[in-house]
Amino acid sequence: MYILGIETSCDETAASIIKANPKTGRLLVLANIISSQISIHQKYGGVVPEVAAREHVLNILPVINEALLTAKISAKKLDLIAVTKGPGLITSLITGLETVRALAFAWNKPVMEVNHISGHIFSNFISPETKIKYPALILTVSGGHTNLVLMDKSHNIKIIGETLDDAAGEAYDKGAKMMGLGYPGGPIVSKYAAEYAQTNPELQTNIDLPRPMLNSTNLNFSFSGLKTALLYQLKKDKNWKTRIPEYCFAYQQAIIDVLVGKTIKAAKKTGAKTIMLSGGVSANKELRIQLKTKVEKELKKVNFLVPALEYTTDNAAMIATAGFFKYLSDKPVDFSKLRVDPSLQLK
Ligand code: KG4
Ligand code: ZN
Repeated sequence: MYILGIETSCDETAASIIKANPKTGRLLVLANIISSQISIHQKYGGVVPEVAAREHVLNILPVINEALLTAKISAKKLDLIAVTKGPGLITSLITGLETVRALAFAWNKPVMEVNHISGHIFSNFISPETKIKYPALILTVSGGHTNLVLMDKSHNIKIIGETLDDAAGEAYDKGAKMMGLGYPGGPIVSKYAAEYAQTNPELQTNIDLPRPMLNSTNLNFSFSGLKTALLYQLKKDKNWKTRIPEYCFAYQQAIIDVLVGKTIKAAKKTGAKTIMLSGGVSANKELRIQLKTKVEKELKKVNFLVPALEYTTDNAAMIATAGFFKYLSDKPVDFSKLRVDPSLQLK
């Protein structure tokens, strides 16, 4: 099957074409085109929905054309279109979905609506290095979401932990904003943190930040208190501007300790046989290394998977992949019934 995936939930206009085998579940990404608006939103310190919407309108058809050209296939060959239904910014989602409605009508193709978070989860199914064993535990950490999900072998999922306030990516973004470091915060904070670690190999710091809910009995997260704790530390310290790498190091480590601690706890509680990471924050090198190390030490029989870097932040290959697996057990949606849902829940 040739599948076109379309993603426009936030500030990336993305189109991808994958070739998938319904019998084996194996798939190949033929094109993964992303037009990022990061440089446009940077000057505002975050995503401006109006601006994002206008950019999507300009970019969506060129991005789809480029995907078809890169994959070297004509639209006629497509068997399915997968599109993000939500969650996300309504004005961004609409461009992707309405474009798909028009294309599905004109080209007479079936459509699967995909949950964006489900897309992140399925980014791990794009050429996994090892076999996925079930039940599988997935930690999804992005700018808008932080959750722990358990998946059975039929790909049914159950949310077993989620953030009560800010998402992990949001914590990075807000912390970076507080220190005047720009947007998006994740890559900048992690760059400074790495700089500090390189010059301080003993990894000591006297910046004391909390690990919210690390020891709570449930599997939920909370990051807003950490952000406030950072704010108080900065206010107390007249010289904080000269210690930015150290603050970034301490702040990132607090986030990672919670994410790693909760994931290990969830795996022990559920008997998960595979642990997977996904979402924009899973691009973080330290998170990938520290979780892998902990899994190898404490959960010897458990597989650990991370998506290739290009499939961590928003992309359409993950949407095409999630659409493909959904198509194997679900019916396509008639083009007249397609609807965006900005607060779509994962189920
Ligand atoms: O998945 P994504 O592209 O969009 C959402 O679905 O939200 O995630 C974006 C988030 C942002 O908060 C960004 O700061 C974070 O992912 N991020 C990172 C890194 N790269 C992106 N966080 C930590 N380390 C990174 N290297
Ligand atoms: Zn995302």
